[in-house]
Amino acid sequence: MFKYENRSSSFTIILQQVVCFRFKTSEKLTRRYPRFYHLRVSNQVKLMKQGVLKVTEKQKPSAVLCVGGSPRAGGNSDILIQHFLTGIRLGGSVAETVQLRDYNFQSCTGCEQCRKDKTCTGLSDDMGLIYPKFESAKSLVLVSPVHNYNITAIMKAFIDRLYCYYDFAAKRPGEWSTRLQGQGRKAVIAVVAEQKTFKDSGVDPALQALRLPFEALGYEIVAELPVTGVFHKGRIRNYPEILEKARQIGIELTSSV
Ligand SMILES: Cc1cc2nc3c(=O)[nH]c(=O)nc-3n(C[C@H](O)[C@H](O)[C@H](O)COP(=O)(O)O)c2cc1C
Repeated sequence: MFKYENRSSSFTIILQQVVCFRFKTSEKLTRRYPRFYHLRVSNQVKLMKQGVLKVTEKQKPSAVLCVGGSPRAGGNSDILIQHFLTGIRLGGSVAETVQLRDYNFQSCTGCEQCRKDKTCTGLSDDMGLIYPKFESAKSLVLVSPVHNYNITAIMKAFIDRLYCYYDFAAKRPGEWSTRLQGQGRKAVIAVVAEQKTFKDSGVDPALQALRLPFEALGYEIVAELPVTGVFHKGRIRNYPEILEKARQIGIELTSSV
């Protein structure tokens, strides 16, 4: 019985290697048949877990936090995050996802107590669970659908609650710095929209709404992925080239840290 199990798992590994090689070299095929793409990716992850697919020396483990800003569970942003995660894990990094919709938190009230306390003391809610994950992850992947030419309200609320990482000079208006800068922090930003053109969809203002605050906080934006023309829940699966791009960005993010 034991022998049989061993043989069966070796056979599975060989089969997976063949499938993986076949589909790795066949981008055209995966573009034509999106389902093959998912088969290839899931096989790569399995091989990686079994230690068959090796990660290179350059790709050292580091923590990445993916932050999802869609209120729609299982939607296009979630699927995009899954593919960023696949890339990050293939690159050899440890990653975690925070879906903001799963946390109960308020937007900033502007009490300004954090200027003195250096942490958010004005509100007590689930942001208390997110702050430690946010601080310890050296890299971020931020994904939001476009809602009314901008990021979603929940993503904006999350960003506003990061105000406590700023240090302000006593005299206002005046100078400021952040306690996250100079640490080599990196971020990837991505937005998903229904309309096809950049102008109609609002992907530009949405990307800007992610880019500016995270640059100000001390992050280097290493990749931006605007996705247009995707409306129905899960429809992004029909665009394997976009999912492949997300996976590649995930791998590159890992190796750049
Ligand atoms: C409240 C709301 C506002 C939206 N506003 C826009 C918009 O301004 N531009 C656009 O192209 N799509 C807009 N959409 C469509 C979503 O961006 C699109 O369906 C996206 O794929 C949703 O991503 P998700 O599945 O991750 O939630 C809007 C959707 C909702 C629910």
